[in-house]
Amino acid sequence: MRRFVALLVLSTLAVACKSSGGGNANLSPKADAKVAKPAAVTPAAVAMGDSIFNNGSCARCHGKGGVGATNAPALSGPTFLQMTAGSFDEIVGIIVSGVPKDKIKDPSHPNAMGARGGRMALTDPQIQAVAAYVWTLSHK
Ligand code: HEC
Repeated sequence: MRRFVALLVLSTLAVACKSSGGGNANLSPKADAKVAKPAAVTPAAVAMGDSIFNNGSCARCHGKGGVGATNAPALSGPTFLQMTAGSFDEIVGIIVSGVPKDKIKDPSHPNAMGARGGRMALTDPQIQAVAAYVWTLSHK
């Protein structure tokens, strides 16, 4: 119940910000909404995820810092191709499943994204960490 009330307050605030002209007009309402930080997004997890993402294969396709590159979309922007809202759980889901070729939405991305980081074969704690890092990219 308290959680519900908190959500209600947050969404009312988000609406209030919008109607007063606050916020960036280029952001979609979903990405713009102030979302409570997921419990898994701790400084330690984000630091570990940063290292996995930027030293591992994620950055080869998505660019250093997830800014996007020829093979894969930016993960820092207001809109998403695979996900609806870029929630923590959605990010975890995409990393676990990967994106097979027939699920790729933008045909300019030629290569499938491997499940669990492909050859990196990420463990569950590593996936939680890299998802925490990716979550921060679109929730500054
Ligand atoms: C071989 C290239 C490649 C690698 C490596 C890769 N990805 Fe991806 N990723 C993609 C493609 C392609 C898509 C789907 C883009 C589309 O639909 O057009 C995608 C989609 C995503 C999405 C959903 C983005 C959205 O707009 O909805 C997330 C999150 C993501 N990747 C995270 C990661 C993480 C974290 C790693 C490292 C563990 C990683 N990716 C490694 C190619 C890659």
